[in-house]
This record gives sequence, structure tokens and C-alpha cells, in this order.
Amino acid sequence: MSLMRSTILKASESAWLRERAPRYGFIRKSVERFMPGERADDALAVAKRLADEGIITLLTHLGENVGSREEAEGVTQHYLGVLDRIRTDGVPSEVSVKLTQLGLDIDKEFCFRNLAALIESSPADKTLWIDMEQSSYVDATFDLYSRARKTYRNTGVCVQAYLRRTKKDVESLIAMGASVRLVKGAYKEPPEIAFPKKTDVDENYFALAQMLFGAEGRQAGVRAAIATHDRPLIERVSRWAVAEGIAKNQIEFAMLYGIQRAEQLRLAREGYRCCVLVSYGSFWFPWFMRRLAERPANIAFLLRNIFSG
Ligand code: FDA
Repeated sequence: MSLMRSTILKASESAWLRERAPRYGFIRKSVERFMPGERADDALAVAKRLADEGIITLLTHLGENVGSREEAEGVTQHYLGVLDRIRTDGVPSEVSVKLTQLGLDIDKEFCFRNLAALIESSPADKTLWIDMEQSSYVDATFDLYSRARKTYRNTGVCVQAYLRRTKKDVESLIAMGASVRLVKGAYKEPPEIAFPKKTDVDENYFALAQMLFGAEGRQAGVRAAIATHDRPLIERVSRWAVAEGIAKNQIEFAMLYGIQRAEQLRLAREGYRCCVLVSYGSFWFPWFMRRLAERPANIAFLLRNIFSG
């Protein structure tokens, strides 16, 4: 991991910086590139616009590691309202949550009840997704996910290709016929746990995508979402999957709002399933810092905003 990436990821965990960052206009302006606004209405408006372009959306209310039951219940209520809006507005959107937003740090059973309430209120044809957080949460996340899957079909979970353990986890998820979002991984992890070299992460990513789209996964009813902005990797996965005889509308790609917009449109136009994750909310600091860490050019963009007023 580069020094710059690891420094930014360390800073993303700073409560001191989190409190001060929103005071600076140039930082808020940079955040706007990745997020249409702080309200659910802002995200739903984008969802409608993207739906007209054949793009589905994944909505997420920014937040993590809530410190009280009241806060976790507030987040759950908020998402219940959003699920209701998705139903009444008829937008092709799904929701993705972080378990530490639903109270995982406070009480696992309490968190599970909040999660179950959200899956239950999700329309049957929509998946309620669970994000993957730092490696210390992976076991608890899979534990709650597999419990939820025993009762509900319409729930999915994210897996991170940078983790050495993920191949084994994907094998279990395939056996369950799970819905799986494959990402590279956004946190600072030690080399014993995560591949430090980008080329190893990319190779593992491709191997995991092949497993998810493979015959066993298809037979088990796996839904795989290839969540990356890495164009050579998108090309490699799509070429391989099409050669395997998989219909384009069964091959799903997912990207973040504001990143690789032309590629999103291309995929949708060519008949692939294309999904854009739209984040909103006021707790954006750690999430924004992870976006900066992903691409050094984003730092230059941030700095340019200091001078452009
Ligand atoms: P990579 O970092 O190799 O980037 C490839 C190219 O994409 C770059 O060269 C650049 O052109 C472009 N790019 C990537 N990031 C950019 C950025 N921030 N700004 C501008 N351009 C950028 N992680 C996690 O740990 N848990 C999770 O639950 C999720 N969930 C999730 C959902 C969805 C829909 C997406 C797209 C991503 C996530 N992630 C995530 C984040 C993921 O782990 C990863 O950090 C980012 O997707 C960046 O990695 P790429 O796969 O894009 O490749």
C-alpha cells in the first residue's frame, strides 16, 4: 500500500478532522463531485434521472460506527422511510447498509433485529445489501448475513478481493446461492490479512468473478455484482462472461456516483445491467477520505477547489 494511501486512510479515522472538515468550503465542494446532496430526496431525484438512462441505483445513507441504540434506531427508521419511498415512487433502486450503522458495535442481536426489519420491508424483488467494513467485522457480517438468508432471499452482501480469506467466503456464499457484490476493498488492512500489491488484488478479483459467474454459482442462483471502476478489469470480466454464454443482462456492473460516468452509460447502452451507488447524508468525512485514497488525482482536484473559491 502506498504511503499516501495509507496516510489518507489513517486520517479518515480521525474524529478531530471529521469535525473540522465540513467548515471548509473547498472540501464541501469536492465532496459534491461524489454525492448529489445530503438528503434522501437528492439521492431519489438522481435515481429517477439515471433510471431514464437505463441505470439502476443503490442508495446509501452515509454513516458508520454509531455509538448508541437511539442512533441505530434512527438510522433504521430512516431506511424504512426510504424503502417506502422506493416503493411508492416506483424507482429501480435498492438500499445498501453498514452493519455498524445498525448497531453492530453495541449489540449483535439488536443489530440483527434492525437488519431483519429492513429486509422485511424491502420489496420482494429488491435486494437489501450489506456493505463490508474493516476486516475485524467480516466474521460478524457473514454470521448475520447467513442468519438473515435462512429466512429471507432478498438480501446480499459485499466481499472484498483484497482479503486473503475471500476465496473461502465466496465458496460458502455460492453454496448458499447468495447475492454478492464484489469490490476490491477500501480500508487500511495489514499485509497478513490483505494483499498489499494491486496486481495481486486485481488477479484475485478476476478469479473471484469467475467463481461467482461460474456454472456452480449459476446453478445455485447466485446474483453477482461486479463493483469496480477498473475499465481493463470490467472488459476482462465481461469478455469472459459473454464467452461463457451468459446473457449481458445477467452481467451486473456497479460503480459509484460521479466516477466513470461515460463507462456507466456505455455498459447500460450495450445491454449490461448497470448500477450506480448514490451516497447521501451529512456524515461524509470518512467515506470521502476513502474516495481520495483510491485515486491520488482526487487530491489535486481537492487542491484546485481551494483556489477556485
Ligand atoms: P481501482 O482503485 O484500481 O481504480 C480503477 C480506476 O477507477 C482508477 O484508475 C480510476 O480511474 C477510477 N477510480 C477508482 N476510484 C476512484 C475515485 N475514488 N475517484 C475517481 N476515480 C476513481 N468497499 C468496501 O470495502 N466495502 C464496500 O461495501 C464497498 N462497496 C462498494 C460499492 C460499489 C458499488 C463500489 C463501486 C465500490 C464499493 N467499495 C466498497 C469501494 C471499493 O472497495 C474500492 O475502494 C473502489 O471501488 C475503488 O476501486 P476500483 O475497483 O474502482 O479499482
